[in-house]
Amino acid sequence: MSSLTAQTILAQLDTERIGCQIEVYQEIGSTNDRAHELARQAAPDGSIVIAEHQTAGRGRLDRRWHAPPGSSLLMSILLRPNLAPPQAQRATMTCSLAAIRAIAQRTGLEATLKWPNDLHFQGKKLGGVLTELGPIREERLTYLIVGMGINVNLDPDQIPEAMTPPISLAAAVGQRVDRFELLLALLHELDELYRTMRAGWSPHESWRRHLSTLGQAVRVGTRDGVMQGLAEDVDADGALLVRTESGALKKVLVGDVTLRGQRIED
Ligand code: BTN
Repeated sequence: MSSLTAQTILAQLDTERIGCQIEVYQEIGSTNDRAHELARQAAPDGSIVIAEHQTAGRGRLDRRWHAPPGSSLLMSILLRPNLAPPQAQRATMTCSLAAIRAIAQRTGLEATLKWPNDLHFQGKKLGGVLTELGPIREERLTYLIVGMGINVNLDPDQIPEAMTPPISLAAAVGQRVDRFELLLALLHELDELYRTMRAGWSPHESWRRHLSTLGQAVRVGTRDGVMQGLAEDVDADGALLVRTESGALKKVLVGDVTLRGQRIED
């Protein structure tokens, strides 16, 4: 198994943009923070930051992201896709799809997505995606940071305070998984999908097919309160469309989904 260094990755990478600049840290606060710094210093589209350990890893909705050193893929990608702010989810969808494809390629596992972008396997959390937006100029996003954490070789019992039971790729396949090969597959898949997305393709239909949330009775916690209903569909911008008990179709942009009767929050 090769170790994760910028040199070893660059030596095997054959991509157009993704990974054009690579930083690898043994320890860092959060790779997303470092990627924001790089963005402000005009680093190019496709730059990536990887860490073996984060001391202040963040998850969605102001949560912490825990991963024992060397156990996971912890990476942030700086993207400059020239999107209008409502289209930001396209970049997140593209990265989630790349992760699903890379996982299938390297392990044979069919991971699913719990809305909006949690990677799941058999109802347990394999990983997550945290997208943060840069400033808007002339109605376009100047950049986005897509942070991804994938549980590769960790023992699920090592994750404290997990509200959704965690799982790792190694636990799912019963043997260690080569993080280096998984990373290379992910960067190559993303390069391909990102090129198509920049040319105008929306990942929405492909992303939608992997969502395990659709058709389920859900309880959704949003900043405005809790609603219950049927997760009917998602729209082109990635919002969840929930048919409530009164028959209204409500659009949820940001929230936490719980399957009714079974708590599976982030
Ligand atoms: C979630 O499911 O809540 C999203 C988790 C995202 C975690 C990754 S790990 C790499 C990157 N750096 C961070 O601080 N967070 C993201």
